[in-house]
Amino acid sequence: MYTVPKLADYSPEALKRAADELEAALNDQIRRVTNEDEWKSFRDRWLSRKNGILTRLNELWLKTAPPEARKEVGKCINRVRPFVEQRVEDQRLWMQAPTIEVVSPGIEVPAAELEQYARRIQLEKEKLDITLPGIPHPIGVKHPVLRVMDEIVAVFKAMGYSVGEGPEVETDYYNFESLNFPPNHPARDTQDTLFIAGQEGKPARDRLLLRTHTSPVQIRTMEQQPPPVRIVIPGKVHRNDPLDATHSPVFHQVEGLAVDTNITFCDLKGTLDHAMKALFGSSVKTRFYPSFFPFTEPSADMQVSCIFCGGKGCRKCKFSGWIELLGCGMVDPNVFDFVKQNGYDSSKVSGFAFGMGVERIAILKYEVEEIQLFYEGDVRFLEQFA
Ligand code: DAH
Repeated sequence: MYTVPKLADYSPEALKRAADELEAALNDQIRRVTNEDEWKSFRDRWLSRKNGILTRLNELWLKTAPPEARKEVGKCINRVRPFVEQRVEDQRLWMQAPTIEVVSPGIEVPAAELEQYARRIQLEKEKLDITLPGIPHPIGVKHPVLRVMDEIVAVFKAMGYSVGEGPEVETDYYNFESLNFPPNHPARDTQDTLFIAGQEGKPARDRLLLRTHTSPVQIRTMEQQPPPVRIVIPGKVHRNDPLDATHSPVFHQVEGLAVDTNITFCDLKGTLDHAMKALFGSSVKTRFYPSFFPFTEPSADMQVSCIFCGGKGCRKCKFSGWIELLGCGMVDPNVFDFVKQNGYDSSKVSGFAFGMGVERIAILKYEVEEIQLFYEGDVRFLEQFA
């Protein structure tokens, strides 16, 4: 057991020797501390205010030192004190920590030490400079195509239309046959598209393709729901069209269908005229031009008065004063025949349908020069719509 010796010699060498002895004693005792109780008496032995070893140092070394040696003795004690305190505290951590084996078996690093390390690394990582400017996260907006699509849908919703959707991968039956495009009919050529490979074994009507228009959802709707119906169908469509300033092989349409008793061409004209005024402003005029679609009879192309020149004639409308905007017509009785069993008897009900290109309307509304701009994702273009 260590007891603090009295000093006879106050020379630096003697002080150093005495300090070394004290340290050796401390190390020796530490090795024998293995549990909480042992640590407590160890701590008291060294740190107790009343007669712990550090207190005894003051009494036996400092107070009795001759005045000329006081300074050196004080320095020596001031080095020894924090050292002893630290070793006592370290031993507590050491004992409390479960030991973890790391690196290789046999070398044990106390968890407390690892924990301290981890904490330091964590703090380092979490260093935060609150004076730095923040990172801006611009809020996104709806893509212009989606925005226009939603706008069109909203106009019809306000007139009491419901909203439907259909599959983009469609069968020949829904995309063509039930819309009165018989197999090998030349009207199919205008709507060439991609067919899913390896379907040669299937009957023609079951073969899958990327839908060329949203019109197949007309039949799907009438199969699901007896008349009356009023529905708009937004969606994506595909065609074998080369990309140019106004055409893209993938684009969007909004389809419309209204079926009830006594629906006439006047209803079609009134509805679409109202919709165009809602979309382009109340001064816009509409006119209907004879056209052909297999699934409507009669069929029409609807034109709006040029929204750039108001109908006077300009480069945009090719000096005609009118811009062609959508296809429409009265539902062909042959189409109703495919859903006759669900209440669509062409001698009792009639209806109109229409289909419009969303990009085409967006191009006109926002005066966009190139359809590709909608698909490139360039923020310099898109942020104009923010
Ligand atoms: N489906 C036609 C197309 O993509 C557009 C169309 C024309 C839809 C007349 C209709 C309609 O519903 O009645 O070119």
